[in-house]
Amino acid sequence: MWISFVLLFGLVLRRSNCEYDRNNAATGIKLSTNNELSVSASNAFLNFGVVINPFNSSTKDVRKHCNVGYVSTDYFVHSIGVIGAASNGTNREMFMFAFAGEITTKSTLFICLVTVSRSTCNAQHQMTVLHSADKPQNYFLIGIDSHATFVYGFTSTMVFKLEIATNQIVQNLTLETLWPSIIFLPHAFGFSDQWAVVVGYGFNRSEKKNYAIMECLIDLISLISYSCETLIVESTYLVPSNLLSYNELYEVSVAIRHENVLVGIHRLNTIVILKKNQTSLTKIHVYTVTSSSLTSFGRLVGWVDEQTIAVVAYHSLYSSWSQSQIFFYDKNSVSSTSPLYTFPNNQQTIGNQLFQPHFVRLVITSNGNLALLTDYSLVIIVPASPINYASMWVEPSATAFVFYYSPTPCIGGTFSHEFGLGPCTICLPGTRNPGIARSDGTSCISCSRNNSNSYCPLAALVEFDLNTMTSYSQVTAYPVSADTTNFDDILLENMFETDSNFSCMIISPFFWTLIAGAFAFSVWIMMAVIKLGKWQQYNRYRTRVKTIFMHTDLIREGQRWVGGLATIAIIVLVSFAYWFSASFLKRYPIEEVSEPANFACDSTLINAKFATGLDLLAIPQSIDAQRMFNLLDNQIFNITVELINTGFTCDSISVQENLIGTQYANLILSCERSKWNAVTSVTFTLPDHYSSVQLNMTGPHWASAVRICLRGESQTIMNTMLHALDFCQLFSAPNQTLAHASTIPFIMTKIINITKSMEKNRPITYSGLWLSSVHGASLFNEAFYTEFGNYLRYTFALTTIRITFDERSFYIKNIQEPIVRTRQTVFQALLFTSLVIELFGFSFLLAKLFVLPIIRRMLAICHKYRDRAQHTLSSQSANMGSIYINLEVERWPAVECLPSNQFQPNDIDDIEIDCISHELRRHIYLPNYPCKYLWTRQTAEPRLICLEKSKDESGDRLENSNSQLH
Ligand SMILES: *[C@@H]1O[C@H](CO)[C@@H](O)[C@H](O)[C@H]1NC(C)=O
Ligand SMILES: *[C@@H]1O[C@H](CO)[C@@H](O)[C@H](O)[C@H]1NC(C)=O
Ligand SMILES: *[C@@H]1O[C@H](CO)[C@@H](O)[C@H](O)[C@H]1NC(C)=O
Ligand SMILES: *[C@@H]1O[C@H](CO)[C@@H](O)[C@H](O)[C@H]1NC(C)=O
Repeated sequence: MWISFVLLFGLVLRRSNCEYDRNNAATGIKLSTNNELSVSASNAFLNFGVVINPFNSSTKDVRKHCNVGYVSTDYFVHSIGVIGAASNGTNREMFMFAFAGEITTKSTLFICLVTVSRSTCNAQHQMTVLHSADKPQNYFLIGIDSHATFVYGFTSTMVFKLEIATNQIVQNLTLETLWPSIIFLPHAFGFSDQWAVVVGYGFNRSEKKNYAIMECLIDLISLISYSCETLIVESTYLVPSNLLSYNELYEVSVAIRHENVLVGIHRLNTIVILKKNQTSLTKIHVYTVTSSSLTSFGRLVGWVDEQTIAVVAYHSLYSSWSQSQIFFYDKNSVSSTSPLYTFPNNQQTIGNQLFQPHFVRLVITSNGNLALLTDYSLVIIVPASPINYASMWVEPSATAFVFYYSPTPCIGGTFSHEFGLGPCTICLPGTRNPGIARSDGTSCISCSRNNSNSYCPLAALVEFDLNTMTSYSQVTAYPVSADTTNFDDILLENMFETDSNFSCMIISPFFWTLIAGAFAFSVWIMMAVIKLGKWQQYNRYRTRVKTIFMHTDLIREGQRWVGGLATIAIIVLVSFAYWFSASFLKRYPIEEVSEPANFACDSTLINAKFATGLDLLAIPQSIDAQRMFNLLDNQIFNITVELINTGFTCDSISVQENLIGTQYANLILSCERSKWNAVTSVTFTLPDHYSSVQLNMTGPHWASAVRICLRGESQTIMNTMLHALDFCQLFSAPNQTLAHASTIPFIMTKIINITKSMEKNRPITYSGLWLSSVHGASLFNEAFYTEFGNYLRYTFALTTIRITFDERSFYIKNIQEPIVRTRQTVFQALLFTSLVIELFGFSFLLAKLFVLPIIRRMLAICHKYRDRAQHTLSSQSANMGSIYINLEVERWPAVECLPSNQFQPNDIDDIEIDCISHELRRHIYLPNYPCKYLWTRQTAEPRLICLEKSKDESGDRLENSNSQLH
């Protein structure tokens, strides 16, 4: 509104008086500032904006803003020069400035000293008329030496020197007098205390060459020119009319600090640094900076201090606050990537009250304070800030044309180590600044790093423990089927498992079978002992036990009591097999198996086999499977973005869904900021699975780690189950900060688990989960700053994170089915039982065929060499097994009695066999010991009767006391 008024006013004036462009703030010198006073002139408003004490407002020396109107409406002000506090008095009440003006109606040039009272804003004018001209001046520049004793002025034709104290022109001369040998058009100048540098276009009178940019060093005391040099050799002819009248393209700028001179030639994107050497200037550096986004480099120049220069250029990128930007450089290193910082930047912004201005005048005072004039005649006042402060924009409370910046403590994660104009710079890794102002040393304090997880990255606010925010995913590798998926094999393997591990042994069927076998063996030994020993009183029990075992014999179908003994082992083994089978059955599906298998050595044993593969989404699905797909497709995703170690607050964050083109829709978000650990967490619901969403974070902040989480709720419909989604991915880079525009591409893949049921006729169970992964996220781009300049870190108004989603055209299909189902197990168990019985039978058969004959043979050999002290009478039948008859009669020598004829014990009831006995040891027949076998059906035990003829001719009948039938 205000500005449109200015424009309208300007247009009206321009029409009425086209020679004087009252709207153009760029011509002449419309802003002059020193540490005490700043004055800007607006020909459109016929007003001087006077700011007393512009840079630091204290209670002692308060800042005062005065509007001083032009005395007459036909004044046109060309240039201003501030003088400062009037030398008359020390109470800092009166402030002075000078202006060079023209009475438009009469084309009369004058110079005027104005004294403004701080308390009343009243102004006194002291006007000195120079001369009348026949046409308006294009250049009427004035300047004041650094001691504020004289005002020096250049018109198109003359130079003059006015003493401020007396308001007298003490010297005046024409340009030809000053520069007799050259034609020279001054365009800009800079003043030191005793000398000045005038830059303009000129050529040597004698040579009559083309105009070129020249610098002339003049002595202010005697107002003589020391030297004039061509600064840049032009490659083309310059059109004189462009130089004679005001044409912004041909403007040049000059700044002086001590002996250093800086000249900006924006037409050539060039700056020249010179150094005064007695009576001439020596070129130190000539820098030409060109880049696609940078034009008019050198439009305005200034010295911040002896080392640092400020150069204004038009910059089309990275700045939303203004069209021109000030680049600050070290004077020895000037290139498109080497600025130390820029103004404006994201800490030192320019409010939109200034309409993205161009800067038309830049003044940096001797104390390093900055004043700017914009193309709309608005003034920006930026005081230099102390250590750990940066001068930041102050929102004006009312309509104003002077906008102030004020030193503000560095924001979290930054520090500033020197007095100056720039923004605070980020804390280096290993240091942090929680955002507390400190005026001593640096405000980035060292991280204690007492914890190995201490995460103290670039631009840190706090010492963060990254372990409190880790990445995680629900997805684990789908199990692989065991080596054996055949129940027979599993059963056999586990039944005959031998492992020295105690816990395994204790449940090993083989172990318990061995124990049962050992028990059976000990029973057998006991039985043998009872039989071999002469404990006839136990024979009764022995027979009973034998009968019992005979009945339990599974191997020989009740034929042998030893078989009954072996059956104990069989029962143990088979019971284990049944227990195993029953327990194994329950270990399905894997999702419901939580405890380790305590019935087998391998505690991971499960009754499931797995198959996994990829399948195309495009292939039509069954109704049941389709339900699973629908559930997955309709799952609502919540995204949580956690910015770690960041200064971004909830107010500065918004989320949008990017639509077609540049259209977008804002999304509702919930945001939480945890101040103590500097985490800002934003949660929002994704509109649909293919949305592209964008987080917009405004402000001069960073983050050095970002965790992004994707969550969705679970849902179950019939036998179809959608798993809750919970996925988090952490991105961190300790030596980098979040890029100004980063992307996180999510790739989603469906995982469908198909679980076949235990019973064949029951429905299949489906469960689904989204597998999310992030591939190729680019969140940190230190390379960008390395390539294009570290200063860019501080230039972005907006930090964005774009999150995109894409789904794979296939899905992962996992199939789980039981190794064995109930009915099969019953059958398998039966088979195993019969197998075990067969095995035992087989081992009996083996024993009978191979072991027994060997034992027998060995026994026979043993018998042959038996100790003499033992008398054994044995007999052997050739047929139908063996019959040994041992007669141990102490008084009788050992006698072996061989049957004299063959006999079949089963064939005949009672037999009586003559046998020839002989003494074993001597192998001599003892004819005097005739013996006879007696075998009766009732006793089933043959008896041997021998008669001793030598001693008792009557024939003592001797009955063996201990004969055994095997
Ligand atoms: C000097 O100061 C006195 C009062 O302090 C004032 O009357 C006088 O006008 C001042 N002179 C100038 C030139 O400002
Ligand atoms: C310039 O100087 C001359 C004499 O050197 C004098 O006559 C003339 O008045 C002066 N001009 C002004 C504007 O003071
Ligand atoms: C100063 O200028 C003189 C000649 O004018 C030259 O010889 C000398 O080297 C210069 N000194 C420097 C420091 O440039
Ligand atoms: C997703 O966000 C919505 C709205 O904020 C909330 O009601 C829902 O519980 C969230 N779901 C999950 C899984 O966090």
